[in-house]
Amino acid sequence: MSRKPFIAGNWKMNMTVASGKKLIEDLKPLVKDANCDVALCVPAILIPEMVKAAQGSSIHIGAENVHFADKGAYTGEISADMLKDYGVKYVIIGHSERRQYFAETDETVNKRTLTALNADLTPIVCVGETLSERENNETEKVLDRQLEVGLKGIEDLTKLVIAYEPVWAIGTGKTATDEQAQETIAYIRKKLGQLFCPNCAEKVIIQYGGSMNAANCKGLMAQPDIDGGLIGGASLKLDFATIVNFDK
Ligand code: PGA
Repeated sequence: MSRKPFIAGNWKMNMTVASGKKLIEDLKPLVKDANCDVALCVPAILIPEMVKAAQGSSIHIGAENVHFADKGAYTGEISADMLKDYGVKYVIIGHSERRQYFAETDETVNKRTLTALNADLTPIVCVGETLSERENNETEKVLDRQLEVGLKGIEDLTKLVIAYEPVWAIGTGKTATDEQAQETIAYIRKKLGQLFCPNCAEKVIIQYGGSMNAANCKGLMAQPDIDGGLIGGASLKLDFATIVNFDK
C-alpha cells in the first residue's frame, strides 16, 4: 500500500506578515521538487498573506484550529467557511497545546473534525500521550480514547490525517526514537482498522510530531507506518525544506 508522504509545519504563535512571507519565498525553490505533500499551518491572521506568498508553489496553507459551529456568537473564533474563503486546505485539530491550555477535549475535537470534513477541509487530528501516561503504561488506553471519541461518526477515514504527537516530545528536543514512534503509530493504525476498516486504516496518512528536525527526519520517515511529520520549531526556518526533502 503506497501512501504519499505529507510534511506539515505548525507555526504556532510565531511569525509576522514580513517574516512569514520571507520564509515562504525562501522555501519555495527549496521544496519545488518535493515528492511529498507540503503544508504550513499558520496563525489565522497570517493566512491571507501567506496564501498569496505561497501561490504558484507546492506549499499549501493550513490553519491551526477551527470552530465547530457554522457561525454565531463565539467571540474570537474562526469558522470553516472563513478558512475556505482564503483557500485553506488543512486544519490542525486537537493539538496538545489546545488540549492543555484551551480546554480542548476529545468531544470538541470530534465536533471540530466533523465540521472541517463537512467543509471539505482536511483535518490533521492530533493524538498522543503525556510523559506520565507513558510511564504508567497508559499510552494505548489514552490513544484508544482519543481515537474512539475524537473520530466518532466519521464516514470516510481517508479524508483526514492523524498526527501522533507524544506530548513529552513536543518542543522539548526529546524525540521519540524511530522504534517508539513506529511502534505507537502501528498501534494507531491497528486501532483505526478495528474502529473503521482495515483497508481504510492502511490508506490513512499518519504523521509523527514532536521535535522532528533536519537531523532525525530520515530515520523517522524510513519507518513503515510513519507517513510524514508535523513540524513545530523546525518549520520556522529553512530546516523545514530539509525535512520536506527527506528522501533526497
Ligand atoms: P515541535 O512541535 O516540532 O516544536 O516539537 C511539534 C508540534 O507541536 O506540532
